Amino acid sequence: MRDECAAIRDEFDADLQSAVSENDLYQIKSKYLGRSSRLTSLIKSLKDLPAEERALTGSTANALKSSLQREIETALEAMRLTRKEQAIAARALDITLPGRRPALGTLHPVTRVTEKITAIFTGLGFSVVDGPEIELDFFNFEALNIPKDHPARDMHDTFYVSGEQLLRTHTSPVQIRTMQRMQPPLRILCPGKVYRCDSDISHTPMFHQIEGLMVDTHVSFSDLKGLLTILIHRLFGQETAIRFRPSYFPFTEPSAEVDIQCVMCRGNGCRVCSGTGWLEILGCGLVNPVVFKNAGYDPEEVTGLAFGLGVERIAMLTYGINDIRLFYENDLRFLSQF
Ligand code: PHE
Repeated sequence: MRDECAAIRDEFDADLQSAVSENDLYQIKSKYLGRSSRLTSLIKSLKDLPAEERALTGSTANALKSSLQREIETALEAMRLTRKEQAIAARALDITLPGRRPALGTLHPVTRVTEKITAIFTGLGFSVVDGPEIELDFFNFEALNIPKDHPARDMHDTFYVSGEQLLRTHTSPVQIRTMQRMQPPLRILCPGKVYRCDSDISHTPMFHQIEGLMVDTHVSFSDLKGLLTILIHRLFGQETAIRFRPSYFPFTEPSAEVDIQCVMCRGNGCRVCSGTGWLEILGCGLVNPVVFKNAGYDPEEVTGLAFGLGVERIAMLTYGINDIRLFYENDLRFLSQF
């Protein structure tokens, strides 16, 4: 019987030597240690042996059994480790490959122009304020001296939400809201979305404006000209000619529209400026005393200036964009240029 043990051991060693996979090892395990293995039946038959031989053979057989178990476990462990190492090596980073750059977004041209203008005015002591896009008729029209039957309402193709609520058609209602909230002197800038029922190559139903308002005891038209000249020179260059053209807004008196020398043809006349050499870029004026009254200020005490400009218009002129709709198509080929 002890020869049998030695034979099992030899055969086992040979099998273990030739094992190449974990699967081979599992098969060896069942072959040598399983229920119907030679070693198991040998151990089972120990009880039939005479007592003195049983003890000796028994200890040899049991020692062989635990030794085989240990060797198989060790071999399995080694095989698992190799498999893990191979898996890690297979996944290893190839540092010679060129890197994949994450695609970085760019700022929308409307955002860029808004930030540029905001930076110019905050540098001049203005602070940025905000107002609601769903506005009351009172703030959008009434308090700005545009009563219900005023012809100026025709200029605004208004989206109404309900009888008294509408999508603001300009950022001017923020003038009233700010004056109700704050005492003079004040210098505020309000960038934001406005809405008009309009859509063609130069109009979209939603666009952006920046409103400016300055109120103090001696604000004059020269202050207005000075501020807007700084703005235009910083945006389009010192050499850009500027024209203040008399105009009309119910909420300013006097009112003006500001034209700049056409940035495309430098004033010679082209398609962009319809041959005039000038481009209209904003509306402005001195705050109408009626507006001060409506907002709760005393027009005998204060004077003010206000202006409103279209951000898309400035962006189109700055970057030479000829169709306003490009801003909102979200075509990455367009957007990634900025
Ligand atoms: N709110 C005017 C518009 O949308 C622009 C403007 C603002 C004019 C402030 C004068 C003063 O056309």
